[in-house]
Amino acid sequence: MLDVEGLRVAVLGWAESSRRDLPWRRTRDPWAILVSELMLQQTQVARVVPRYQAFLERFPTPPDCAVAPAGEVIDAWAGLGYNRRAVNLHRAAAVVTAEHGGRLPQSLAELQALPGIGPYTARAVLVFAHEADVGVVDTNVARLLARWTGEALPPRRAQELADQLVPPGRAWSWNQGLFDLGSAVCTARRPACDHCSASRFCAWRGRGRDPASPSPRQPAFEGSDRQGRGRLVDALRGAPVAASELAGVMGWPDDPDRARRVAATLVADGLAALTDGGRTWRLPGS
Ligand code: ADE
Repeated sequence: MLDVEGLRVAVLGWAESSRRDLPWRRTRDPWAILVSELMLQQTQVARVVPRYQAFLERFPTPPDCAVAPAGEVIDAWAGLGYNRRAVNLHRAAAVVTAEHGGRLPQSLAELQALPGIGPYTARAVLVFAHEADVGVVDTNVARLLARWTGEALPPRRAQELADQLVPPGRAWSWNQGLFDLGSAVCTARRPACDHCSASRFCAWRGRGRDPASPSPRQPAFEGSDRQGRGRLVDALRGAPVAASELAGVMGWPDDPDRARRVAATLVADGLAALTDGGRTWRLPGS
């Protein structure tokens, strides 16, 4: 059994003295929190910081984002990768503008009903904008929970435990602290158990290997469809691409069929458009 009280005191004490000063931690604006959390889902903090600030200068509110063409939002996503997040954010901004008076809704169900917003992101908005007493479970937090309990928890159980552990009234600090602990101390590959405020409470501590949470392997990027997709969107941020240049731009000069097939998936995802009767590729709406 986890000593919940002991764990809370130890982790909160560490969290409050070690907290990283990050721009999205200086605001309670739900839109800014949403932008930061979507950016942080697949991209490292250092890369997100400058993009986050520039994005919010360009789109300070959901209506500012909703009225822009999708291509401008994709453009502002440059350098972050996983560009579908930009399309979803633009769609979410449109729904918020049309159905919620331009402000993000405040219930879990309504947040999760927005395009591209799942349980993690919805809870992150509730905690970091509204200080709701819920836990947010990303892969790093899931790893902490698995180590503390010594079990690989299925997602439902991980969420339940995360909710139970939140110290009432301190959810903001607690959840930010778990992110910091996961990134600075309880890392996937080399956890620094000797420096961990939670080690007394941790079932996994000291076991050499990590059966509770093998870190997921990323699929190979080099040569993948994803690489070609990224190359095309990056090129389109600079200028339209002639259909005759498509295969070269995507890195497959000898495989135009593959280039067309993969480019079609970008169209389906709202990330690219084929215009001028099939002669020119562009960002949507540009
Ligand atoms: N990763 C996801 N959300 C985060 C946050 N608020 N701070 C740091 N890393 C995060």
